[in-house]
Amino acid sequence: MTQRVALVTGAMGGLGTAICQELAKAGHKVVASYHPQFDNKDAWLQEMAEAGFKDFVCVAGDVSSLEDCEKMVTEAEAAAGPVDILINNAGITRDKMFAKMEKDGWDAVISTNLTSLFNMTKQVSAKMAARGWGRIINISSVNGVKGQAGQTNYSAAKAGVIGFSKALAAELAAKGVTVNVICPGYVATKMVMAIKPEVLQSIIDTVPMKRLAKPEEIGGACAYLASDIAGFMTGATMNINGGLYYQ
Ligand code: CAA
Repeated sequence: MTQRVALVTGAMGGLGTAICQELAKAGHKVVASYHPQFDNKDAWLQEMAEAGFKDFVCVAGDVSSLEDCEKMVTEAEAAAGPVDILINNAGITRDKMFAKMEKDGWDAVISTNLTSLFNMTKQVSAKMAARGWGRIINISSVNGVKGQAGQTNYSAAKAGVIGFSKALAAELAAKGVTVNVICPGYVATKMVMAIKPEVLQSIIDTVPMKRLAKPEEIGGACAYLASDIAGFMTGATMNINGGLYYQ
């Protein structure tokens, strides 16, 4: 297979780590983008090396900043070559019932989870189209499709991710660049484990499979969407949620 350069945002989180690993297993050169305030980069790299993933390139930046995204992609290209595969995975939660939600919690989630797609994709999409091959994979959420109490900000941003992807897919379909969305359900990561245990248990009770997703179950889907064999799939939304919700 052709080795390609894959840039993953939010790479050092639970889901991001699994995505990096599955892309590396598929033979790609991985660029791990992380927030500059994340202070465990060296420990993460060490852990990856011990797991057999020795040559990840790292770039630091805040995906809610257009300037940071420009800088990260410039650094990625210098270190690894043109970005062929972009995984917009970085995301945060600021869960609160709408009655209690403040503007800063709204703005933080919209800018990190949605405006980031503009900021990152802007750096790579025209170049992918000019080369005639590219993969853009955006991580949304089951809660962007079904809505979740306590997540008006997150559900709005994740629904926006789907709309963005469908529109861009239509623009790039004839250029060899696919744009697809993965909507994970509840995955066993730090983000989900931050939910109060009794609330989380009540959520798991509603999942027909009665469990959380393993991060690699999402990472594996990214590797598929990034492959040549997925070339006819664009504008699609993959639901990976243990049966929690169907569109
Ligand atoms: N539907 C409707 N109403 C609900 C509700 C629900 N699912 N859950 C709670 N409420 C109601 C409660 O009954 C309560 O009503 P009263 O005030 O009338 O009694 C009110 O909302 C407040 O509920 P809480 O006591 O839970 O309020 P809180 O301030 O302690 O907590 C919360 C609010 C932080 C949002 C908490 O409910 C929560 O964590 N909910 C889960 C949110 C969630 O699923 N987040 C996913 C995070 S992981 C992720 O986002 C990854 C991904 O993509 C899946």
